[in-house]
Amino acid sequence: MALIGAVILLSFLVSVLLLRGSVQRSRRGHLPLPPGPKGWPVLGNLLQVGPNFHQTLYNLSKIHGPILHLRLGSVDFIIVNSKAAAETMLRIDLKFSSRPRTSATYHVSYKQQDMVFTPYGPRWRMLRKLCAVHLFSNKAMEHLRPIREDEVTRLVQKLSRNSSSLVDLSKEIHACATNAISRVLVGRRVFEAGDKAQEFKGMIEELMILASSINIGDFIDVLRWFDLHGLVAKMKKFHQRFDNFLERLIEEHRAGLTETGSANGDMLSILIDLANSQGNGDVVALTDADIKPLLQNMFIAGTETSSNTVEFAIVELIRQPELLARAQQEMDAVVGRGRLVTEGDLHNLPFLQAVVKETFRCHPVAPLSLPAWSPRTSRSMAI
Ligand code: HEM
Ligand SMILES: *[C@@H]1O[C@H](CO)[C@@H](O)[C@H](O)[C@H]1NC(C)=O
Ligand SMILES: *[C@@H]1O[C@H](CO)[C@@H](O)[C@H](O)[C@H]1NC(C)=O
Repeated sequence: MALIGAVILLSFLVSVLLLRGSVQRSRRGHLPLPPGPKGWPVLGNLLQVGPNFHQTLYNLSKIHGPILHLRLGSVDFIIVNSKAAAETMLRIDLKFSSRPRTSATYHVSYKQQDMVFTPYGPRWRMLRKLCAVHLFSNKAMEHLRPIREDEVTRLVQKLSRNSSSLVDLSKEIHACATNAISRVLVGRRVFEAGDKAQEFKGMIEELMILASSINIGDFIDVLRWFDLHGLVAKMKKFHQRFDNFLERLIEEHRAGLTETGSANGDMLSILIDLANSQGNGDVVALTDADIKPLLQNMFIAGTETSSNTVEFAIVELIRQPELLARAQQEMDAVVGRGRLVTEGDLHNLPFLQAVVKETFRCHPVAPLSLPAWSPRTSRSMAI
């Protein structure tokens, strides 16, 4: 259970990070602000950021209405807790499609030249389109399915070999999700024996920690110029190492690619192919400076979100044995005991699907989504 605690704490930290806006330079007082709770001088509403911040926000929105204002330190936040208002801001006013700047988004994520934090514009569109077509399309999902299924098979085999001993399931699920995503991205496993894998694992773990670290200087103006925890220095140093590491991965791929084309079929190979076939119409020429941050985004966004969600699903099933029994019955009836469940079985497993949906509903790993920011108003917004 300690791990679950850590997971909750982590998602809280991430949530706070996500909520943070870099509206430091906003000229407060120029525009009327939505209603919100009164805050303290300097700290603003920082002390109200409890461990369940998303629930606090929901409670506050019942008092102050669906659009409310909070000030965390020196930073203004507009919390939008209504689908209609969020849609208006995001889809009609596309300027809100940018994201705020923080120490982590700037120093870890390539000075915001990555996909997630790059300002709205041609680059924003180009990078999202690339992902939509080459990573998240049905075709890409189907193409990469053998990789995901292989990693799940490895996990199940490992667990069944150890059926009589205690197993740290959190660790195994995390390793499985990280390996699956890493193979999809760069054709390599993170958790594996050997020095090379050890270095990779170290990098990914440090990336996760730094990407979700909180720099108090992002919140409190007077502290901005002092790197109080030495965090910014750490981020800069790590960024250099991670960048070199990705550079080497790309070189390795290029070396392997010259003869076989995109034989690996992973995302990096596809991106390298695209970069080689420049000038084919609408795609802006792709360089390593686009590929590296994109890979980094996927590592940060894809691994712990997936493994935490699976872990929550399993915890809920263990806590509610009658649901676990129903899921097992369904699985026995549809799949039987002679083979492993595959992704192709999913449409025949409505109860399992319901378990997954309930897990997303009860345990959203990013309850506050990612913050949006408009350069026009200089105010940040979270949904
Ligand atoms: C259980 C699994 C996952 C959950 C619950 C989840 C949830 C989320 C949420 C809530 C957002 C914020 C959307 C927004 O505010 O605009 C997001 C963004 C994102 N996710 Fe996931 N995610 C999961 C898995 C993944 C995976 C496996 C990948 C990639 C391999 C991924 C890549 C991304 C990216 C790149 C973004 C940023 C999109 C953008 O800036 O436009 N996520 N995710
Ligand atoms: C929100 O309000 C509910 C009902 O009053 C309360 O039980 C819950 O503890 C509150 N949550 C937070 C995080 O303040
Ligand atoms: C499986 O069991 C062996 C011996 O009991 C142990 O060394 C190993 O760490 C276990 N594996 C897992 C995944 O826990």
